[in-house]
Amino acid sequence: MKGLILSGGKGTRLRPLTYTHAKQLVPVANKPVLFYGIEALKEAGISEIGIIVGDTKEEIKQATGDGSHWDLNITYIEQAAPLGLAHAVKISEEFLRGEPFVMYLGDNILKSGITSLVEEFQQKKPNSLILLTEVANPHMFGVAELEDGRVVRLVEKPKKPASNLALVGVYMFDTHIFEAVKAIKPSWRNELEITDAIQYLVEHGYEVQPHLVTGWWKDTGKIEDILDANRLILETISGSNLGNVDDTSRINGQVVIEQGVVVKNSIIRGPAIIGEKSEIADSYIGPFTSIQNNCKIIHTEIENSIVLEKSEIVEVGGRIDESLIGREVKIFKCPSKPSVYRFMVGDKSEIGIK
Ligand code: DAU
Repeated sequence: MKGLILSGGKGTRLRPLTYTHAKQLVPVANKPVLFYGIEALKEAGISEIGIIVGDTKEEIKQATGDGSHWDLNITYIEQAAPLGLAHAVKISEEFLRGEPFVMYLGDNILKSGITSLVEEFQQKKPNSLILLTEVANPHMFGVAELEDGRVVRLVEKPKKPASNLALVGVYMFDTHIFEAVKAIKPSWRNELEITDAIQYLVEHGYEVQPHLVTGWWKDTGKIEDILDANRLILETISGSNLGNVDDTSRINGQVVIEQGVVVKNSIIRGPAIIGEKSEIADSYIGPFTSIQNNCKIIHTEIENSIVLEKSEIVEVGGRIDESLIGREVKIFKCPSKPSVYRFMVGDKSEIGIK
């Protein structure tokens, strides 16, 4: 069985971060989202993985490499434009060479991995196995309608959802999916939809088996979901300290302090992670915070947030909460006179002021 991870696309909902970077590389608990998918496939015993890449291919290739880091073989499959999930399957036919496969959306994280689902697929051998979960906002997802436990209809982001069962971004297929992706036509948004391809399987008498996911699942396409995923992953970490924490600092709960970190006169309340060579001084780092490598947090309070590498936050008066701060960002206190705010902010940034 092979794996196909989709890491192309545009990431418009995460601008401005995704103007310059791939959305699948945004870190959750200091690890790119994409790596959670790679590791889930590896854990399920899959060693041949194709990764669909688009405009951000160089960055994805540089971060992920040839797979040897995980003892896997990774092949990159270039998609000239994000023409849909089913289009990504269509261009991967040669790589998949008649084998059944798992398709995993590169911005998804599933708590319990996919090992038992791959086993179920291999044992029962349906033509496709799809993962569903109950959500509060089904119109944001592909939605499935079941009758007597069987899939009867799938609709992509319906205005009036027929159920609250969303398609999770992990799918298993045998070779009949190629017949489906070749037969369907682009949707109103000009994409070849995987939901339409699965609907084709249902209508042509192929067996599409639903599986309800009970553990948490996150599509990290939006900031709230990234912060949520960060919280859920940090809840599972165990603390460790490879850095240098002075006597006037206090570390409570599970906190990962990586190599070269310096903590001075600060309180860090876990779960939290502080990446290599970051400096924390005269500050409070609260629960559910991930600080990446080479950051400086000075005289600042921050919690429930993610700070990407090489950013500096210095002497911010209030507490920073529920924030996603990009790379090499500087947030600092202005001189007291005149009493002003000063911004140099990129397109589509969001700043909340009390
Ligand atoms: O997360 C689950 C949802 O994922 C499902 O409920 C939907 O049925 C499914 O269509 C998909 O919806 P999204 O709107 O979230 O898909 P998105 O455009 O974010 O693409 C998902 C991943 O696939 C993302 O990592 C980008 C990548 N991608 C996307 C397209 C359209 C590609 O690699 N190529 C593409 O052409």
